[in-house]
Amino acid sequence: MGRKILLDKVHIPGIKTFKVYRDNGGYASVEKALKKMTPAEIIEEVKKSGLRGRGGAGFPTGMKWSFLDTRSNNPRYLVCNADESEPGTFKDRYLIDYIPHLLIEGLIVSSFALGANTTFIYVRGEFKQQIGILNKAIREARDNGFLGSNILGTSFSLDIHVHSGAGAYICGEETALLESLEGKRGNPRLKPPFPAVKGLYDCPTVVNNVETLAAIVPIINFGGDEYAKIGIGRSTGTKLISACGHINKPGVYEIEMGLSVEEFLNSEEYCGGVRNGKKLKAIIPGGSSVPILPAHLVAVTAANTPRLMSYESLSDGGFATGSMLGSGGFIVFDEDACIVRNTWNFTRFYYHESCGQCSPCREGTGWLEKILYRIENGQGRERDIDVLDSVAKKIEGNTICPLGDAAAWPVNSAIRHFRNEFEFHIEHPDLIKNVQHGSIEKYMKVMA
Ligand SMILES: Cc1cc2nc3c(=O)[nH]c(=O)nc-3n(C[C@H](O)[C@H](O)[C@H](O)COP(=O)(O)O)c2cc1C
Ligand code: SF4
Repeated sequence: MGRKILLDKVHIPGIKTFKVYRDNGGYASVEKALKKMTPAEIIEEVKKSGLRGRGGAGFPTGMKWSFLDTRSNNPRYLVCNADESEPGTFKDRYLIDYIPHLLIEGLIVSSFALGANTTFIYVRGEFKQQIGILNKAIREARDNGFLGSNILGTSFSLDIHVHSGAGAYICGEETALLESLEGKRGNPRLKPPFPAVKGLYDCPTVVNNVETLAAIVPIINFGGDEYAKIGIGRSTGTKLISACGHINKPGVYEIEMGLSVEEFLNSEEYCGGVRNGKKLKAIIPGGSSVPILPAHLVAVTAANTPRLMSYESLSDGGFATGSMLGSGGFIVFDEDACIVRNTWNFTRFYYHESCGQCSPCREGTGWLEKILYRIENGQGRERDIDVLDSVAKKIEGNTICPLGDAAAWPVNSAIRHFRNEFEFHIEHPDLIKNVQHGSIEKYMKVMA
């Protein structure tokens, strides 16, 4: 069994309630942090832990916290990003559903460390149930003296507010989120200035992911050095992975960083292998925006080393042969899956979610969607694959926020590794029109 430090208590009946959570050691990190540590000491422990942001980019959390402008006389804010809209990613929702007090505990310690007296949880609009769960947990924490004025008799006071988004994926991008929280349209801001200097209401702000903030609890409980012993290299700690697609056991799993991808995919403790005894075609390891990895690059890297669930190993070889850990949305495709259809489906999503501020993303995602649609529907033209690749490359790196990259990478990587499927679609339009969704491989085998 792998080590669990976030989900170790989710099996305890009633753990969602304050009483059961507290009876099982919950909120100990708040007592330790507020009564025995200074904010600077907490930030130091987080730096030592090597924790990297779990929202997707993997930026070191301690370093991000130390960028917060402490010279400003303005209030400081902590904002928890619970927007979680990336296709294939559903681990933050799981954490809120099953152990909401872990997040509230992490938020109290983090707010104290950052000197924030008002903290927001920005929740994806569709998460109606989770909004209720969070509000209940906040009420319980307040009723028991862990929120409000002079927490546990100290001089520290904190209010946590839950704010619902309105169903836009782009509001997960931290500056779009801040715009939305301020009541404006969720358009990403040009950076710099970064939120650490000019964030919510132009005040110094830290935005962190749900899982990142929950991980602060074990870091304070065991100490940063102990936390850093879990995992591998610069990928310390554990990671929540939401696994879905063609596997026997979809779900959310807590893994120790450094577990082999093959073990994660095939062992009974985790995904339980590809379903119906089928062969693996590909995986997307970090949510829909990261490059797809074909089966021959799943178990081993191009350098023939075992592929591990870590930031470094998953990106080994760059985009030519690697991908990214991203937000931990692990999507599996069996041998029958149609990569063209899947790429079109993702692209349709990014086209719909583009905020429209920059032309390469606004226009480019539209072109990608249009061309992929026609290839998928048996109307592809010979030049289409090269045009797709070229449009995607023109979006990448040329936009205000990374949504443009997120739209381009799935297309580039699908063409790089599965060009034959795109060609097959274009060369056999009549056949493609009759193909049942998601069963392209059978036809390719027959035609070979
Ligand atoms: C289009 C887009 C959507 C994003 N959605 C989320 C999200 O739903 N949740 C999240 O935590 N981070 C999301 N991010 C990343 C955030 O901008 C930010 O990096 C993150 O919240 C920082 O937290 P962390 O350092 O704890 O990872 C998104 C980024 C982009 C570009
Ligand atoms: S990249 Fe796309 S989503 Fe991001 S700011 Fe530009 S148009 Fe908006």
